[in-house]
Amino acid sequence: MKQKRVYIVTMGCQMNVYDSEQMLRHLTSLNYRPTSQLKSADLIIVNTCSIREKAEHKVYSFLGRLTRMKRLKPNLMISVAGCVAQQEGYRLIKRAPHVDIVLGTFAVGRLPSLITQAEAQGRPVVDIGPRRDSEPLCIPEPVPKIERATAFVTIMQGCDNFCTYCVVPYVRGREVSRAPEEILREIRLLVESGVVEVTLIGQNVNAYGKKNGHGCDFPTLLGHVNEIQSLRRIRFTTSHPRDLSDELIEAFGRLDKLVPHIHLPVQSGSDSVLNRMNRGYSRDFYLKNVEKLRRVRPDISITSDIIVGFPGEKTVDFENTLDLVREVGFDSLFMFKYSDRPNVPAVKFSKKVPDVVIGDRFTTLFGLQSGFTLRKNKTLTGTIQEVLVDGYSKRTPYQLMGRTPCNRVVNFPDDGERVTGVGQILSVEIVKAFSHSLLGQRVAGAEEEGVGENGGMSHAA
Ligand code: 5AD
Ligand code: SF4
Repeated sequence: MKQKRVYIVTMGCQMNVYDSEQMLRHLTSLNYRPTSQLKSADLIIVNTCSIREKAEHKVYSFLGRLTRMKRLKPNLMISVAGCVAQQEGYRLIKRAPHVDIVLGTFAVGRLPSLITQAEAQGRPVVDIGPRRDSEPLCIPEPVPKIERATAFVTIMQGCDNFCTYCVVPYVRGREVSRAPEEILREIRLLVESGVVEVTLIGQNVNAYGKKNGHGCDFPTLLGHVNEIQSLRRIRFTTSHPRDLSDELIEAFGRLDKLVPHIHLPVQSGSDSVLNRMNRGYSRDFYLKNVEKLRRVRPDISITSDIIVGFPGEKTVDFENTLDLVREVGFDSLFMFKYSDRPNVPAVKFSKKVPDVVIGDRFTTLFGLQSGFTLRKNKTLTGTIQEVLVDGYSKRTPYQLMGRTPCNRVVNFPDDGERVTGVGQILSVEIVKAFSHSLLGQRVAGAEEEGVGENGGMSHAA
């Protein structure tokens, strides 16, 4: 079979990163290899995000760029995958007729047969159908050679929460948890291939195992993952505050591989907004959980998401949000301007906040949080951090880049020896703090914690 090239653009969240990797695995059956050169691609996949309007615009502007390319190279296949594909279906072909395949979020495993079908019939194919039971959520084998120290592992898909602003339950479907054995097997295979850190991903990992009858909840799953030999760090994302159980909070004190970081999106600091968002918790409940987490793990880093300008958000609501941000002191924050999404309940909510007001509030919140982020980073200067090396810094040669347990980026010189440090955990002293990263230096004579004889090291980029 002729060797072909596939170019994948991945937009959006970790679920898409994971799905893109799966697509690459599936495509080996048709002899496709990934390429980083758009021009040399036989197949281009745009794995899309529709969480906010801006993300969707990005998709169409990228597709626009491909129009000319398709004209010059008629055999080029263009596939749109991910949430915009699922949401738009046939409408996408109308808007971008040069697209050959619309691959919905449940159709990832059917990509090879859809390519074959599109090639045979010479016209576009659309698959936004449901997942089929016979198709596994994931195919862990063959695991490709991993050229990095860290990997995402999907533990559940979909969401049952129906927050009134959110498109996810419509484009990713209801919650489905993978069987624990399957997850553990995938992690063991990744560890064998050199991975030392996994991030367990799902829209709401705290709800893992609530349905599907696997008899294993999220804290129990974490306990099993913690026992995998040679795995060094466990992360997870995203957590819904309502489902943050005391058992999960206690896991932060109990499991040595679980990093002291939690991403816990609060969305708003106003009870009335939280209520209209259908979040299912109050401001007070959220603050109490933060307190509990800090009691169990005083060094825990807490990050969050906030939406500014939800319909009906009054000045007093926004002030409550600012107040909550001051009270918690987040380590960092993702801030979003509210945007209407197709068919979600909030579209019909009255009292939309004018764009200028949203803009002003966003700037105020951004300013407030920037101060906190920098201050939090500065508290780390002078400390020694265990940094998991991810590779060389893109901007500065001879500078390694890695992450602390609480997920802060640290750049530090490699001491002149271009070591293949990917996958190693090194002791690094923090010498300077910036808003988005830390600068460090290796501590002389510090021990590299064992990643085995050649574990991780052989996979340097
Ligand atoms: N408008 C703005 N932000 C949104 N998010 C989700 N839906 C919307 C929307 N319609 C934000 C939430 C979520 C993050 C991933 O994106 O804060 O946690
Ligand atoms: Fe969207 Fe809410 Fe589900 Fe998160 S919990 S994916 S915000 S519906």
